[in-house]
Amino acid sequence: MNAPTAAGPSVAHVAASARLRGELRLPGDKSISHRALILAALATGESRIEGAGDGADVRSTAGIVAALGALVERLPSGGGSTVGYRVVSQGADGLSEPDRILDCGNSGTSLRLFSGVLAGLPMTAVLDGDDSLRRRPVARIIEPLRSMGAVLHGRRHDSLPPLTVVGRTPLRAIDVATSVPSAQVKSAILLAGLRADGRTTVHESVATRDHMERMLRARGVPVERADAPDGSVAWTVAGGMTVRAVTERVPGDVSAAAFWLVAAAIHPDAELLLRDVGVNPSRRAIIDILRSMGADIEERPHGDGLDDGVGEPLADLIVRSSALRAVDLGPAEVATAIDEIPVLCLAATAATGTTVIRGAGELRNKESDRISGTAAGLRALGARIEIDGDDLHVHGGTKLHGGETDSLDDHRLAMTFAIAGLVATGRTSIGRPGSAAVSYPGFFDDLERVRA
Ligand code: S3P
Repeated sequence: MNAPTAAGPSVAHVAASARLRGELRLPGDKSISHRALILAALATGESRIEGAGDGADVRSTAGIVAALGALVERLPSGGGSTVGYRVVSQGADGLSEPDRILDCGNSGTSLRLFSGVLAGLPMTAVLDGDDSLRRRPVARIIEPLRSMGAVLHGRRHDSLPPLTVVGRTPLRAIDVATSVPSAQVKSAILLAGLRADGRTTVHESVATRDHMERMLRARGVPVERADAPDGSVAWTVAGGMTVRAVTERVPGDVSAAAFWLVAAAIHPDAELLLRDVGVNPSRRAIIDILRSMGADIEERPHGDGLDDGVGEPLADLIVRSSALRAVDLGPAEVATAIDEIPVLCLAATAATGTTVIRGAGELRNKESDRISGTAAGLRALGARIEIDGDDLHVHGGTKLHGGETDSLDDHRLAMTFAIAGLVATGRTSIGRPGSAAVSYPGFFDDLERVRA
């Protein structure tokens, strides 16, 4: 196997592996790494972030924090996929208007979260990115931030980036429901709420990842949570609160762990140990779904279960070869395992029975159209998958064979197809494999390590 990099080969080849063994440390959680950098820019003083993910997406966020005038220093890396940061900022009021377009690269999280920050700053800024980012919807972010008093404009009748933000200080506090379950949109509104003239409340129909809420609390900003009987959740922040500078360690990314959980579960001779994985209840759906399919996943929680810096529970995970059965997932489960659905489809090809994934339309709005991209790649390896509107039907009990797949420049598809290559007979090729570096730069090195 050639280990691809962003500038590396346009095709990677993965051959079937007789066994999978080893111990892995995942990149620092991508969602938490973005938030840690952004909150460091809003805090006054020196923040330290250890074990941040060193993928291209988090680098984009670091670049934007620097472009807004904070000092951002990369610290010696702990390994291929992680890096430390030291950030020194004079707080939100000390940030300066950028003199160039802010480049989010491939990162939807950077685009949405910085929209929330910029909405409350007295400046004009433009957020842009690569071709994939220019296809990501922004109306969901423009509407609530406009109702808070900021001026935002996007391409194609305010539906697509580049996104121009003219901020206003203070913003108007609002009480609003997100139009789709989206932690990015929720987090952007909470960030804007920090600069509003009262209490801002965001309601979401399904509780999405709550990293921003935990991280704000860890920095001295109270965030209230109210659960309704129908499963919806409301989050409230007050404007004008000071964000404290902290030192923290980022947990291993459970969305990166997902590839190895599936790899070992569907491989006939596998045992992998995944160290220091974040198992936040709002992120761990993939672990629980795989277990409900029969996956042998042992969880060894750390100490009191909480990392002292970020208030995130951590565990080591041991996963072994398993006999999987099909599962039926609805829209709420799709929302909580949104980034893991492609690799879950791979798991479903090895399960007995037909897995049904309902209400997955939001997958079309990711780095690629992940419904058609996942189906096309896995079908090329012999999988039987049907797309019915926003639903997916994955027929199990399929022995995959080698073939040609295309990541569509989408990191999660590149890694899903590479994992498929470990269990498929013969040789699997993955087009545009360098996209894996968006979230997991050491992925192909780790793949070599576990097959040895
Ligand atoms: C993220 C939220 C999710 C997820 C993305 C990261 C975040 O996006 O797909 O990879 O860090 O808030 P949506 O909120 O748009 O579903």
